[in-house]
Amino acid sequence: MISIIAFVLALQITYSTLPPLVAAATMACNNSPSLCDRAWSNTTQLGCHNSPFVRDATTDWSYSGNQYYNTTVQLSAGVRFLTGQMHYVNTTANLHLCHSSCDLLDAGTVSNWLSDIKTWLDDNPYDVVTLLLTNDDDVSTDDIATEFADSGITKYAYTPTDVDAPPADGVWPTLAELINNGTRLITFIGSLESVSSSASYLLDQDTFIFSNSYDYTNLTSFSCSPASPSSVAGSVSAALDADLLPLQNHYVYTEEGLGIEIPDVTDIYTTNAPSSSSNSSTGSLGQSAQVCAAEYGRAATFLVVDFFNIGPAIDTVDTLNGVTDVTGRSTTSTAILTTSDAVRFGHEFLSMKALLLIAATGMYFMI
Ligand SMILES: *[C@@H]1O[C@H](CO)[C@@H](O)[C@H](O)[C@H]1NC(C)=O
Ligand SMILES: *[C@@H]1O[C@H](CO)[C@@H](O)[C@H](O)[C@H]1NC(C)=O
Ligand SMILES: *[C@@H]1O[C@H](CO)[C@@H](O)[C@H](O)[C@H]1NC(C)=O
Ligand SMILES: *[C@@H]1O[C@H](CO)[C@@H](O)[C@H](O)[C@H]1NC(C)=O
Ligand SMILES: *[C@@H]1O[C@H](CO)[C@@H](O)[C@H](O)[C@H]1NC(C)=O
Repeated sequence: MISIIAFVLALQITYSTLPPLVAAATMACNNSPSLCDRAWSNTTQLGCHNSPFVRDATTDWSYSGNQYYNTTVQLSAGVRFLTGQMHYVNTTANLHLCHSSCDLLDAGTVSNWLSDIKTWLDDNPYDVVTLLLTNDDDVSTDDIATEFADSGITKYAYTPTDVDAPPADGVWPTLAELINNGTRLITFIGSLESVSSSASYLLDQDTFIFSNSYDYTNLTSFSCSPASPSSVAGSVSAALDADLLPLQNHYVYTEEGLGIEIPDVTDIYTTNAPSSSSNSSTGSLGQSAQVCAAEYGRAATFLVVDFFNIGPAIDTVDTLNGVTDVTGRSTTSTAILTTSDAVRFGHEFLSMKALLLIAATGMYFMI
C-alpha cells in the first residue's frame, strides 16, 4: 500500500516538473517531434513566395499568381514562411496585399490575410509561422501595426530581447520555447521605417536576414551569393559573421517582352524538384539547396519557392532538416493547375493590363 502511494506521488512529481505543452515524446513541432528542441533559426522552413497571390478560379487564373493554393492550404501542407507585398490602395487608409500594383492583383487587406493566419495558428497550437512583408510604399510602422492589431494576431507575436541586432551567435529560441511561451509568429518587414516600442514584434528584415537575388530568368543562373542587405552584398562570410539568417530564393521568371516578367511555370517540375545528384537536376531545388548549404556551412533558414505544391518542394526541406518522422500535414496535389482557357485568357488579360499600366505609369513590372 505504502509503495503504491509512493509510486503515485512519484508519478505526480514527475508530471508536475515536466515543462508545459511540448513535453510528450509524441508532440510534433512544425510537423516533427525531432524539431522541438532545435533552434527556430536552425531549422529550414519552406517559404511561399508571394503567398497571398494565388493563381486559381478566385483570381481568374491570374498570371500574377505565384501559388496555386491559398495561404491556409499552404500552412496545412507544411509551409512555415510566407512572403507578401504591402501596398496602399488610393489612400493611406487602405493597406492591401497587391502584386506590384493593386491594378494587377489585389488580394485584399493585410488584416484579413493576417486573420486567416491567426485562425490557422488557433487551430494548430504546436506550429511556428514566420512572415516577411515587403514595404515598397514606405508604409509607416504604425499603419502596419494597426493591421496586425485589427486581425487579432498580435497575441502570438514574438519579440526578441534585442530588436536592433540578431541574438549572439545567431541562436534564436527553440521551437518548443516559442510554442510553450505562445509566441508562435515571427514577423519581418522589408524594410521597417522605424522600430516602434508599441509594436516591437515588427522586425526589420535587413537587421536579421540576408538573401540571394530574387530575379532569375533561367535555371542555370541561380546564385547563393548575398544580394541584400547591401552591407554584406557578395560576401557570405560577412553575412554569417553578422549572424544574419540565410534566405534562399529559388524561383524563375519568364520574360514576356517590354520588361514584363511572369512566374515561370514551364520549367516548374525541374525548378522545384528534390533531386540533387543526376545531371538533369541542374537548377533543381534539391541541388541548389545543397550548393548553398555547402557555401554557407549550414542549410538556409528560409527556402522560398513559387507553386510550392510542385516537387513537392517540402521534400527538399525535410531532407535539409533530416526529419523522417513528419506528421500532421495535409496532402496537396503536386500538379500544375490550369485549364486551356485559363492559360489563353489569363495571358492576354495580364499582358493587356500590364501594357496599360506601363503606358500610364512608365513602370516596368516583375510580377
Ligand atoms: C542545428 O541542427 C543540426 C541538425 O541538423 C544539429 O546537428 C546542430 O547541433 C544544431 N545546432 C544548433 C546550434 O542548434
Ligand atoms: C483556401 O482554399 C481552400 C480550398 O480551396 C478553401 O476551402 C478555403 O476556404 C480557402 N481559405 C480562404 C481563407 O480563402
Ligand atoms: C480605389 O479607387 C477605385 C477608383 O475610384 C475604386 O474603384 C476602388 O474601389 C478603390 N479601392 C479601394 C480599396 O478603396
Ligand atoms: C518565455 O517567457 C518567459 C517569461 O515571460 C521569458 O522569461 C522567456 O525569455 C521567454 N522565452 C522566450 C524564448 O521568449
Ligand atoms: C541566364 O540568365 C542570366 C541572367 O539572369 C543571363 O546572364 C544568361 O545569359 C542566361 N542564360 C541563358 C542560357 O539564357
